[in-house]
Amino acid sequence: VKETSFWHSQAHMGRVKHAEVVIERGEGAYIWTEDGHRLLDAPASLWHCNVGHGRASIREAVSSQMERLETYMTFDRYANRPALDLCERIVALAPLGEDAKVILGSGGSDAVDAAAKLSRRYWTAVGRPAKRVIVGREKSYHGLHAFGTTIGGLPANRVGYGDLMPDVVHTSPTDWRDVEALFEEVGAERLAAFFCEPVIGTGGVIFPGDEYLREVRRLCREYEVLFVADEVITGFGRCGAWFASERFGLEPDMLLFAKGVTSGYLPLGGIVVAPHVAEPFWREDGESFRQGITYSGHATACAAAHANLDILADEDLLARVDGLEAELESALRPLEALEGVLEVRAGTGLLGGVHVADAAMAAAVVSAMWDRGVLMRTIAEGDVLQVSPPFIVTAEELRSLGAALAESIDAAVPAAA
Ligand SMILES: Cc1ncc(COP(=O)(O)O)c(C=O)c1O
Repeated sequence: VKETSFWHSQAHMGRVKHAEVVIERGEGAYIWTEDGHRLLDAPASLWHCNVGHGRASIREAVSSQMERLETYMTFDRYANRPALDLCERIVALAPLGEDAKVILGSGGSDAVDAAAKLSRRYWTAVGRPAKRVIVGREKSYHGLHAFGTTIGGLPANRVGYGDLMPDVVHTSPTDWRDVEALFEEVGAERLAAFFCEPVIGTGGVIFPGDEYLREVRRLCREYEVLFVADEVITGFGRCGAWFASERFGLEPDMLLFAKGVTSGYLPLGGIVVAPHVAEPFWREDGESFRQGITYSGHATACAAAHANLDILADEDLLARVDGLEAELESALRPLEALEGVLEVRAGTGLLGGVHVADAAMAAAVVSAMWDRGVLMRTIAEGDVLQVSPPFIVTAEELRSLGAALAESIDAAVPAAA
């Protein structure tokens, strides 16, 4: 047989080409493979299918938008109604004030790269072009475009490219004193922006704690550094509030979103920009920010977002996430007593991680979970199991997931030993 032509994302194709899993159908919190296997979607795909699979109202919104206008470019003076209304809606939900502005793009990596450019462009526009240094955190993930690859703190993603973007440095994801020391060393006159996932996702589901977030936010004010909250995972309800920035009182200068804005039904992402950052570009005698892609403000993607936000509101799914936070934690916490489990991470909405001894053990758990009807994936260095189900998951399903994980971990310990 001819091997696949599809080059999978972040995959070792030498192995994957003989082991592709074809997903054919989804409904609620479950997906089905082409050969009929039914699986609980424990990671909600890539942390994005928040309202669950197969939502008719999103499908209908997409179809009816396409009947009128699939999309039209939004360069220069052009706009479309779904994009205009979506920006108003996001500004009303996000904690950046009613005069915030929204840049729309195609997804998370795209938002990260645009935000990195805007942070430098902003300091140039206000007459301080030496402020160019962008600070990222070890273990963080900001997508895989050029800036995001550089700002992210997962070294494996940076191997083999030579020099990436200049003037990017890294600091501790959990110790704010390290951030302070770095800010002091680089100096306010050179610092442009600090990129921060309120809860690190792909790096292993790491909540740095209220004190870290409060102190890095304070340091950013003190050293005049733009605080960029990367809410690609946490945005639109995953932490039980519309945005983690609101839950943790972050007041970001820019807030990045993607995934949950459409629950992944269509590709969409963007940046909410605080009024003071937008101001040099919105004045009548201001400058242009020469950013934008063909699909910025894609009308049909925006229609999908509206239908998705309607579901979140109508079904009160944020309150549901808030209630399920404790259920997820009590389903996972007992695993900490098992051999081979180093740490259970939970307590920030529907975001959980189980850190096990090593990647071999985690892979054995994933395989054992498959046999128990649960699709799981590993993150960080392959040694953390991701648990971030759709918001419609039930407490009962979370308990079963915890029980299946306990059995699978027990079965995997000898395999790893
Ligand atoms: C925090 C964060 N930022 C950015 C990205 C990149 O988003 P995308 O894969 O849509 O480009 C991701 C993706 O997982 C993410 O988790």
